[in-house]
Amino acid sequence: MSTSHSSLLRFLGRYKWRYLLGVLALAGTDLLQQVTPRLIGMFVDDLEAGILDLAGIYRYLAFIIGTALFIAVLRFLWRIFVFGTARFVERDLRADLFAHLERLSASFYHKHKTGDIMAMATNDLQAVRGIAGEGVLMAADAVAMTVFTLIAMISTIGLRLSLWALLPLPFLALLIAVVGRAIFARSRAVQDSFARLSDVVQENISGVRVVKAYTQEAAEEAKFDAANRDYIRRFMAMMRIDGLFDPVVSLFAGLCYVIALLVPGRAVLRGEISLGDFASLTMYIGMLIWPMIAAGWVVHIIQRGFAAFSRIREVLLTEPEVQDAPETVVPEGGRIRGEILIRDLTFQYTPESPPALDGINLHIRPGQTLGILGRTGSGKSTLASLLARIFNPPRGTVFIDGIDVLDLPLDLLRRSIAAVPQEAFLFSRTVGENIAFAPGEWTEKQIRQAARTAHVEHDILEFLPDGFDTMVGERGVTLSGGQRQRVSLSRAILKDAPILVLDDCLSAVDTATEQRILNGLRPVMRDRTTIIISHRVAAVKAADQIIVLERGQIVESGTHDELVALGGRYFRTYQRQQLEEAIASLE
Ligand SMILES: Nc1ncnc2c1ncn2[C@@H]1O[C@H](COP(=O)(O)OP(=O)(O)OP(=O)(O)O)[C@@H](O)[C@H]1O
Ligand SMILES: [Mg+2]
Repeated sequence: MSTSHSSLLRFLGRYKWRYLLGVLALAGTDLLQQVTPRLIGMFVDDLEAGILDLAGIYRYLAFIIGTALFIAVLRFLWRIFVFGTARFVERDLRADLFAHLERLSASFYHKHKTGDIMAMATNDLQAVRGIAGEGVLMAADAVAMTVFTLIAMISTIGLRLSLWALLPLPFLALLIAVVGRAIFARSRAVQDSFARLSDVVQENISGVRVVKAYTQEAAEEAKFDAANRDYIRRFMAMMRIDGLFDPVVSLFAGLCYVIALLVPGRAVLRGEISLGDFASLTMYIGMLIWPMIAAGWVVHIIQRGFAAFSRIREVLLTEPEVQDAPETVVPEGGRIRGEILIRDLTFQYTPESPPALDGINLHIRPGQTLGILGRTGSGKSTLASLLARIFNPPRGTVFIDGIDVLDLPLDLLRRSIAAVPQEAFLFSRTVGENIAFAPGEWTEKQIRQAARTAHVEHDILEFLPDGFDTMVGERGVTLSGGQRQRVSLSRAILKDAPILVLDDCLSAVDTATEQRILNGLRPVMRDRTTIIISHRVAAVKAADQIIVLERGQIVESGTHDELVALGGRYFRTYQRQQLEEAIASLE
């Protein structure tokens, strides 16, 4: 915990000058606030002594208004400096968090729910801002106000009477602390309940099609209703205490007044202090009550903020699993040619799970094409993701151009592989921007050419209202599964990397179209090493080398003709798919 304090202090420390100005303005405000009670006390005394004419009264009023104006200016300044700076701290922390999230590896996102990360990026950041803003403010305010008020009070009525007047205040502080704690506990329960409520809503919105398809609307509504009721129940429980806070505190504050004024009141009668001093005293006591309430809040804000900060810190301290080796090896000429060698590759996602890949050996020469066929779950995507180090393969198993991928600079490796993932993902941008995602300046002509090669140019120009400038993704035009896949393919074609990996990326288009696309890709593939992953024999048929994966093992390998001649699993799949094709063409 102590280290987390220190590193939060580092974030705050960047703005120490702004904070200093803010705290000075705040202290100035608190100091000036002592003036008004004193002025009023003197006013009362002068009135009583009958030495005030009308001009004298106006002078007093002018002073009081002048002080109020000064206070207003200073208050504006500290709000700008303290609250404004808190926003800067929040911005810095948010920027660091986002930059780090971008660097973290796939394994991190397998372990953390998107909702939790989003909550961290909103609620937790807000809670940290609470420390940087209200926390700093209230702490400084409470301290300055208490010190100044005590000094002013003692100098007005003396130490002995001041102590008498302060006597009931510790009891009031205790009461505020107890009630405050109960409120905080309950408000935490309210927040948790609200988070569950949001979860239900979020899941239902993203899964709305499934909910409808399974006619679960009523059941989901009931679930939502239960969560909603729970929320309001907890909220009311909090409100009951929260509602008590003000009346109870005011009641006790009133009692405190009475007790606090008892002894000084007698002192007025005995002529030890003036009526004006007494008037000032009543205002000073009022001014001491606020810091006590503030102290309760400060503790709460700081606890909440540090809990939030330690969650954020945990993420910031998570090292990306996949990162550059201490000493990277760059291939000759700084470019990758695309020779892939895999040696005895066995890979498990977790120590408990069965191997997703088991004893794989492969050699692909630059410019060659490898086809991978295999049932679902046989390890095809795993093989592709180890090549690009989405996950780290074991050392000494995967080599590109003779260099262990673990030793290649990550940046060079990723730039050298154009992978079309199994799940086509489009950003909420235009189609054109989605295709031109790879770093570099791309001309319209190049973008169109890539789309043409992926056989999607026609669709884009024909069906989309603004052609390549049409917004797609979540807030744009919805593309069909096959269109999405082909846009995703265009993106990889445009990237122009020495290694091309197509992970089942045409599963949503019909076999004939797939054939046309693959034929169109041939010139592109000629000088790139290509891996085509598919369930369909037709897609891998033309490859220089084909492997059949089963449960992470290569069970057959060879060219299409060799595998057909072998008459094994590949051949049977081929026969069945040909038959299916023939039947489909009859329909
Ligand atoms: N991120 C992951 N964490 C843990 N296990 C995983 C992960 N991804 C895949 N697996 C497991 O590894 C095995 C191989 O999965 P993989 O995705 O490589 O199969 P695949 O051949 O690509 O299947 P498909 O044809 O359905 O895409 C499966 O048993 C799967 O459950
Ligand atoms: Mg897969």
